[in-house]
Amino acid sequence: MRIDRYISQGTGTPRSHVWTGVRAGQALVNGVEVRDPAKQVTSGVDEVVFRGKPVRPFGHRVLMLHKPVGHVCTTEEMAAPNVMSLVPPDLQARDLAPIGRLDKDTTGLLLLTTDGGLNHALTHPRRHVEKAYVATLQADLPADAEDHFAVGIVLPDGTRCLPAVLERMGPKLVRIRLHEGKFHQVKRMVAVCGGLVLTLHRERIGGLWLDPNLPPGGVRELTADEVALLRSGEPADQGETDAAEP
Ligand code: URA
Repeated sequence: MRIDRYISQGTGTPRSHVWTGVRAGQALVNGVEVRDPAKQVTSGVDEVVFRGKPVRPFGHRVLMLHKPVGHVCTTEEMAAPNVMSLVPPDLQARDLAPIGRLDKDTTGLLLLTTDGGLNHALTHPRRHVEKAYVATLQADLPADAEDHFAVGIVLPDGTRCLPAVLERMGPKLVRIRLHEGKFHQVKRMVAVCGGLVLTLHRERIGGLWLDPNLPPGGVRELTADEVALLRSGEPADQGETDAAEP
């Protein structure tokens, strides 16, 4: 791949800026200054440094973000802070986008990727990837709420939700497992049962749990094993109680 393209994709810097930088002698390949933007480099083989910083081998990037309250999920500039601003410069990349969305007041696991195929696989309605949320409620739900979730709740606009699992974890505390991602879905399902969600936290997508060592606002790259787990579509194998299994 051309070095200007490699640096642009690896750092999120516009190609024109990279071109100018390379011409100005700001790029090194294996320790040697390169001023030709068309110079060919090989990802994972050549060590490329741009403006004093190493450029990571180019490949699709998959990040885990512990979304804090108050950030919106968008790649566009908005008045409210958006999750993209939490990604540190060395993990930024062109085409990086959230996989699905969480509401502004929802916390927890949000994935971001440059891989459109992975994004599609995890969000497409027909793939039914499971997501687990923990919600605190204003009051306990009626005794038959589990049954409503299991059958498939019908939202006020007539939309029928897929069967889901409601697990009571404590007073006014529930875990909800869904296989789809409709707008405000958890809040609307709980509302149909007569409840009100006060806080909502996503703890898992497919087989991948939010890293307990990642503080709110923290971002890290997924390991190769974690990416493979996501791609495999395997269910989670730990962390939930037996009572949660259907
Ligand atoms: N359901 C909601 O109501 N909100 C979210 O952010 C995610 C799921």
